[in-house]
Amino acid sequence: MSKRTFPELPRTSIGFFPTPLHRLDRISEQTGYDVWIKRDDFTGRNLYGGNKIRKLEFLMGYALAQGYDYVITYGATQSNHAMQTITAARICGLEPIVYLTSIVEPDPADARANLLLDSIYGAEVHIIPEGSDPHSFSAPRIAELEAQGHRVYDVPVGGSNEVGICGYVNGYLELLEQMKAMGKHMDYLFTTTGSGGTLAGLAAGRKFADDDAVITGFLVGLKDDHYKERVAGLANSALDHMGASDVRVSPDDFETDDGYVGEGYEIPSAAGTAAIRRLARYEGILTDPVYSGKALSGMLDYLDRKKLPEGSTVVFLHTGGTTALFAEHAIVGPVGEEA
Ligand SMILES: Cc1ncc(COP(=O)(O)O)c(C=O)c1O
Repeated sequence: MSKRTFPELPRTSIGFFPTPLHRLDRISEQTGYDVWIKRDDFTGRNLYGGNKIRKLEFLMGYALAQGYDYVITYGATQSNHAMQTITAARICGLEPIVYLTSIVEPDPADARANLLLDSIYGAEVHIIPEGSDPHSFSAPRIAELEAQGHRVYDVPVGGSNEVGICGYVNGYLELLEQMKAMGKHMDYLFTTTGSGGTLAGLAAGRKFADDDAVITGFLVGLKDDHYKERVAGLANSALDHMGASDVRVSPDDFETDDGYVGEGYEIPSAAGTAAIRRLARYEGILTDPVYSGKALSGMLDYLDRKKLPEGSTVVFLHTGGTTALFAEHAIVGPVGEEA
């Protein structure tokens, strides 16, 4: 590993780090590879950790350093990012507001999963129609709050700006340290990619550490042809923010795969359903139908089909999101319906 060290940046302690890294013995036995899992579903602080907590430690550190007292963000009605941003705001004493796009219509009389948690946390929640521009709803509210003298931090979808992404540059370095301490070399790293911030941070961390693992992000919704360029741009914005502008990420530095999306975002796939059951039944670990289950279905397919060189050491980054198992049936799908 290179001698570079992660810079001092404003950061607030929200989660529990390092997260566990452990071997998947039975999946390793089934597939013939050395398979590990990095448990970012255990980032804390509530029961439902996930990848956003890494980003939020930096986002909230920045917000506090800048003197913001409100935080606004965006997502789907069952957004993990929105729920975790609310959690982080509560920890830091900031007021949370979220604008949630209704892809699967929630029942107002029966709030489920993250939407239920959002209301327990007492956040200001606005549900907006699918296809609308969330900023057209938040802009007047921000103007109103600013006129009252408040300072509002407007956090993009997924917390994927140059500040938040630093959380995954650091996360990659943490993972490398853990592998090194076990005398292991990570050949492949698989994870989920949505807004692209996690993948961007991992790709930036890999370059920052001069590492050579092959990183693949499995998409959970269909994206346009410029997705990889955008992710590389996000990675470079984080490296700039870290004062490491000499390190550059290009779209060739990581892989994406849209072959396991199924019919679309928040629509369960048959392969995802099978992957969730397999990890639960052979390893006791839960994944969700929207994000980690779909990525897992991609990784297991690669391993079952022997797509990787024999003897490879493989890590699955579990990004959390298991609250979705308690969401509306349209999101959960048939995963629990078979003996
Ligand atoms: C559980 C889970 N995994 C993965 C992702 C994707 O992360 P990113 O938006 O950084 O690409 C998300 C994003 O919301 C998520 O909630």
